[in-house]
Amino acid sequence: MTDCQGDAEVAKSPLELYEQLTAQGDEVRTLKTAKADKAEIDAAVQLLLKLKVGYKQMTGQDFKAGCPPSDNSVAPNNGPAAVDADDEDTVDPWNVSTSNAKGVDYDKLIVRFGSSKIDKELVDRIEKVLGQKPHRFLRRGIFFSHRDMQQVLDAYEKHKSFYLYTGRGPSSEAMHVGHLIPFIFTKWLQDVFDIPLVIQMTDDEKYLWKDLTLEDCHHFAVENAKDIIACGFDVNKTFIFSDLDYMGATPEFYRNVVKIQKHVTFNQVKGIFGFTDSDCIGKISFPAIQAAPSFSSSFPQIFKGRKDIQCLIPCAIDQDPYFRMTRDVAPRIGYPKPALLHSTFFPALQGAQTKMSASDANSSIFLTDTPKQLKNKVNKHAFSGGKDTVEEHRKYGGNPDIDVAFMYLTFFLEDDEQLEKIRQDYTSGALLTGELKKILIETLQPMIAQHQERRKQVTDEIVKQFMTPRPLNFNF
Ligand code: TRP
Repeated sequence: MTDCQGDAEVAKSPLELYEQLTAQGDEVRTLKTAKADKAEIDAAVQLLLKLKVGYKQMTGQDFKAGCPPSDNSVAPNNGPAAVDADDEDTVDPWNVSTSNAKGVDYDKLIVRFGSSKIDKELVDRIEKVLGQKPHRFLRRGIFFSHRDMQQVLDAYEKHKSFYLYTGRGPSSEAMHVGHLIPFIFTKWLQDVFDIPLVIQMTDDEKYLWKDLTLEDCHHFAVENAKDIIACGFDVNKTFIFSDLDYMGATPEFYRNVVKIQKHVTFNQVKGIFGFTDSDCIGKISFPAIQAAPSFSSSFPQIFKGRKDIQCLIPCAIDQDPYFRMTRDVAPRIGYPKPALLHSTFFPALQGAQTKMSASDANSSIFLTDTPKQLKNKVNKHAFSGGKDTVEEHRKYGGNPDIDVAFMYLTFFLEDDEQLEKIRQDYTSGALLTGELKKILIETLQPMIAQHQERRKQVTDEIVKQFMTPRPLNFNF
């Protein structure tokens, strides 16, 4: 059965409906091949017809298998169907870009992906349930979208356990500040909820997608794990694993991967990820490997074979396609659907049209940058929303909405009042671009220096502890 049957999750975008239809078509075919009960086949066909009518109403087009809706054209290079006709935003696991200087239109993404907005009501509820101030990423809409977070809070209130899962694709040794966003937030979630955390290092994914050797990717996984550990995770509550190691070490993990693989068709992953006939088969089956840690039975050492512990995944919104697929599969293999918290992207120094990229040194502030390098990069490359001359700036004021230094401060400056004052002063022209950049530099320099100091303390022995499959300090 697919996600849409008797389920509260309603398709909101043509693409999502298209994916559901594709899945439902497969379902009907599977039932027929298996000579299933007539009533069951009839019910599946009825649903298929209903979805087709809905699709026609929404798009004005007839559903055709293999042809995604035309206002969601498939980008050529692995880009799934994620380009709207009325805007240029591209958001998928491999590409993020927009023509708008303010960045991606996140409200539209919520509609297109069919997720829910993290609104004031939800932030207030989080505050009430936790009895403490929500993280600045929640207060400022940096984590802006979710799936099933209300359900997670219900569970927490009833003292039901759940766990956190996030990950990182280790494509190089160099990590930049943008990479830390999900981990800074996950560390906060681990502290406030006091629950187990698993972190997947997809060295296999990077081997499949990039021109790197297996040894390189595994090495990057271990090196990146050091930067992740330096965010302050508790070794008694955190398991970090390299796919290349863990797949062979834990049969239960591979069994879940195979279960997922059996329940997703090539058609479905083509619709979701835009794979083509010339993509290697490793890529086509990889989404099952990123999906499997969403299920507690993949970690028998931690959950003692229990398969009913719910998972909460904090991630950047570009990872959502993987988890839409996961949520679709979950009920069909008898597991709870993972809940999600989605973040916006950390903008490149050059502007919010794209996210920071580790492969472009001038677009990013690296975790290894010296105070001087950091200062030069911000002063030279951070896109400014200020005016060309001091006179004009004083007269007309700057635009914080497109100013990268200001955007970075919204991520890292803790004090809400100070941030608001900076916004007002910059908008009025009282604060100059150079002065704004100076505030950013003075915020980032100690932060990066402290990170470097903590990373130095992370020995090979400590990494090994984090990466050893073992029970954590929780009773299941
Ligand atoms: N695919 C992700 C990347 O390239 C890594 C990843 C694996 C991940 N599992 C995850 C990210 C879960 C967030 C949540 O970075």
